[in-house]
Amino acid sequence: MSQATLLTTKDLSKHFDGVMAVNLVNLEVTDQEVHSIIGPNGAGKTTLINVITGLLAASEGSVTYQGQDITTKPVHERVRLGICRTFQITSIFMGLTVYENVRIAAQSHLGGSLRIMSPRGGLKRVNAKTEQILERVGLTHVAGRQAELLAHGDQRVLEVAISLASEPQVLLLDEPAAGMSPAETDQMSELIAALGTEMAVLLVEHDMEVVMAISQRITVLHQGGVIARGTPEEIASDQQVREAYLGGDDWAVLTA
Ligand SMILES: Nc1ncnc2c1ncn2[C@@H]1O[C@H](COP(=O)(O)OP(=O)(O)O)[C@@H](O)[C@H]1O
Ligand SMILES: [Mg+2]
Repeated sequence: MSQATLLTTKDLSKHFDGVMAVNLVNLEVTDQEVHSIIGPNGAGKTTLINVITGLLAASEGSVTYQGQDITTKPVHERVRLGICRTFQITSIFMGLTVYENVRIAAQSHLGGSLRIMSPRGGLKRVNAKTEQILERVGLTHVAGRQAELLAHGDQRVLEVAISLASEPQVLLLDEPAAGMSPAETDQMSELIAALGTEMAVLLVEHDMEVVMAISQRITVLHQGGVIARGTPEEIASDQQVREAYLGGDDWAVLTA
């Protein structure tokens, strides 16, 4: 099993006027692990994901992916290289079926390589890919359902399915379990843990039980900067982390 470093950030910063949303963050994302980013509201978690994926330009520092400096690369090039994320709900075509949503994403990703195949061969390949992804995420039983008729939890899973069509090596998830029922959260949690054995998953998640259960490593952000990093056990017993969360409900789950 390879445990190679896929993505690193070096002194990565993003400032909004006076606000240091992300401040000198050094991060290493390793293949085949779930690496979670936690921190109180406003800590800079979403901004960090936005800078890593290229949605926002970095103010300072760099992002390196498989030895290549990608700090200024546009989003679509990073996706092509294998850095993919979910976009909460907005990536779903609500009027289309679950199958169609994934098929379109698969077709768009495979597009270039399909041109050298016969139309029929290409279609077969796209359909096979679509079915494989639906099976992978557990949506086969609702493949023919219109996306807008799905339960909220299944819509979030569909988003993950759509991003899997781009064959990510680093998958970034920003609060994938937000608004989910406990049963839906368990299902998503299991899926993320399984994906973490196949690729690198950089997870931002508010639900501390999920984070503690499925992460191999955790990085804690506070006011834009890294205040701790380590295994779930190390983070749970870190005094500085406890202080950053003082009074927050998030931490209650660990001390209960
Ligand atoms: N587009 C923006 N313009 C100005 N300030 C922003 C913008 N996005 C985020 N911020 C600020 O950056 C800080 C970090 O925000 P964010 O990354 O959303 O935190 P988190 O996801 O950890 O809750 C906050 O103080 C927030 O108000
Ligand atoms: Mg956020």
